[in-house]
Amino acid sequence: MVDVILGLQWGDEGKGKIVDYFAKDYDVVARFQGGPNAGHTLYVEDKKVVLHQIPSGVFQKNKLNLIGNGVVLDPITLKRECDTVASFGVDLRKNLFIAERTHIILPTHRALDKAAELSKGNQKIGSTLKGIAPAYMDKTGRNGLRVGDLLDKNFTTAYIKLRLKHQRLLDNFSFDEDITAWEEEFFEALEFLKQLNIVNGEYFINEQIQAGKRVLAEGAQGSMLDIDFGTFPFVTSSNTISAGVCSGLGIAPQKIRDVIGVTKAYCTRVGSGPFPTELENETGEELRKIGNEFGATTGRPRRCGWIDLVALQFACMINGVTKIVMTKADVLDAFKHLEVCTHYKVNGKESREIPFRLDRLMVEPVYKAFPGWNTTTSAAKSFEELPETMKTYVDFINQYLGVSVNYISNGPGRDQIISI
Ligand code: GDP
Ligand code: IMO
Ligand code: MG
Repeated sequence: MVDVILGLQWGDEGKGKIVDYFAKDYDVVARFQGGPNAGHTLYVEDKKVVLHQIPSGVFQKNKLNLIGNGVVLDPITLKRECDTVASFGVDLRKNLFIAERTHIILPTHRALDKAAELSKGNQKIGSTLKGIAPAYMDKTGRNGLRVGDLLDKNFTTAYIKLRLKHQRLLDNFSFDEDITAWEEEFFEALEFLKQLNIVNGEYFINEQIQAGKRVLAEGAQGSMLDIDFGTFPFVTSSNTISAGVCSGLGIAPQKIRDVIGVTKAYCTRVGSGPFPTELENETGEELRKIGNEFGATTGRPRRCGWIDLVALQFACMINGVTKIVMTKADVLDAFKHLEVCTHYKVNGKESREIPFRLDRLMVEPVYKAFPGWNTTTSAAKSFEELPETMKTYVDFINQYLGVSVNYISNGPGRDQIISI
């Protein structure tokens, strides 16, 4: 049996905290896509940890964590992260596994990411510059190197060949930054990576499922950043939606039970691209300040706005969401007045659909107003303690989406979550 936790918006919904919380009830936690562009925040012994590559189940005792084949892996980031995680006493030899089919991010992928973004000028995607798109391009272009290749005696030859190819591309971009230091660190990190548990991911996970173990698949980014269904081209380079779980881990669709979608009680986006409910005003600033909306990976300020039910409904549809977790409800505590986007006005016509190119249309959000609860909710431990105004807000969302909010997260802490 496999359940999935994934983001329903443009990323940073709080997946890390939620996976850490749910992981208690599972035996295996597996990342199925994305790479170090992800920044999943959780708190361990009151210390903040941001995970980029390692699944967020790693701090729960006696769980197995798998980096699946759908992930792109930066050995340098992984090594640093392993050091952090190990400093909490976690034994990674026992509980971290890496699929041999996982593609490796090379230093030249990072350089190419940077060069490509620079060349786009004001059309830039706002990439995290972690080498994600170039690494996935080498995967689909059938050039990439995979973790399993590390154990092959011809690895260095294959590396040099691919690096040469990258160099020609970098020359075309007139990119002349020296990446020797990155390369040195990369090769050191590869030696470290070789010492970890490299497994055949698809047999590993299916044997676990066969043995009746409970698997939790952890998504990165969010549905609106999906390569197929997101706001293309302002997206990431993987399938972030539930369909990605099958190809990213090697499991059959009928093994998936719950798809748990995570959404903020409002909405954020980091990087470029359309964001219909964005508030470029004082309210937006307030959301950013109170919600501490700064990227966990890049530190960039996140763009903030009201919750967008048109986009959420779309995300529920393409993912087959069965349960919703609403995070950061406490951030709305300070607001006297809330709005919820129920429709878009596209060329003067009301619509409840995500159009083909959101970025090329004049889309005006249509809102329904709600009174804020304007009271502190972060100490609440049960649904009964929550203000009626919050319940009305959540009820409206449930009705609109036809899927229920089953959990409300009311603070970043491990125990700040309320089951409904
Ligand atoms: P992820 O990428 O989806 O894991 O999310 P991030 O870690 O990038 O961003 C979520 C941020 O919100 C982190 O700083 C979390 O500590 C914080 N957070 C998560 N849930 C809550 C919540 O319910 N309330 C508040 N105030 N902060 C939260
Ligand atoms: P988590 O897992 C928020 C955004 C970038 C950029 C676009 C493409 O923490 O939710 P990329 O580096 O993938 O080429 O960037 O996607 N992006 C994210 N935004 N959260 C993330 O991950 C993101 N990963 C990528 O800002 O707009
Ligand atoms: Mg994040």
